[in-house]
Amino acid sequence: MRRKLIAGNWKMNGSLAANAALLDGIKAGINQPVCAVAVCVPAPYFAQCKAELTGSPVAWGGQDLSVHESGAYTGEVSGAMLRDFGCTYVIVGHSERRSYHGESNALVAQKTGSAIKSGLTPIVCVGESLAERESGQTDAVVGAQIDAVLGALDAGDVNKIVVAYEPVWAIGTGKTATPQMAQDVHAMLRTRLATKNAAAATSVQILYGGSMKPDNARELLTMPDIDGGLIGGASLKAADFLAIIRAV
Ligand code: 13P
Repeated sequence: MRRKLIAGNWKMNGSLAANAALLDGIKAGINQPVCAVAVCVPAPYFAQCKAELTGSPVAWGGQDLSVHESGAYTGEVSGAMLRDFGCTYVIVGHSERRSYHGESNALVAQKTGSAIKSGLTPIVCVGESLAERESGQTDAVVGAQIDAVLGALDAGDVNKIVVAYEPVWAIGTGKTATPQMAQDVHAMLRTRLATKNAAAATSVQILYGGSMKPDNARELLTMPDIDGGLIGGASLKAADFLAIIRAV
């Protein structure tokens, strides 16, 4: 049985005051979750998460990392720096980074390796655009994205990643993949993982992301290959995030 993971991606949102209220709300309502829970926050707030979440059931992480360990890379943040502040997860290859920052499949693969080397669990994002889905390219696009990562990974490290399927057309749009649409891609992803390491493929968590909300979480999370969610907008409201956790 794979343990489910509900991870919030705050994106570039928050302030010390707003985060304190949000984290207090989450901690107050979370009790003993049956699933793993994490928030992926902007780098300036790692210290706040460490102060507020240590000893709670909520883990924290970043939204990106550098492929470099240290040096003259202005503006970059290394995996070791994330670890310094207690991060356990880091999102890698989010579609917003792929499209706004030109991150290629090769760079995402490199970042995945850097995260593992730093002792972080990368949440590797993959997903097709609307045009790609409508032209029947979903499996080819998403398959190429995951294959690039697997190609750069040691077979023994496959069980150190989390995968997030996030159809680009569902992110922030209120449009969600139907449970069956998501399940089909998740099953394809697991088959690809199995080509690299069959045993590990059965244990890798594959999350769905893209307008997951309290009212659609349950039907998505009951699909056999959907092992959790990567939640954007709904992770910024404690009540909604908690409702998704309770839907597990
Ligand atoms: P929304 O939940 O706001 O659609 O965002 C999904 C996402 O991009 C999570 O990484």
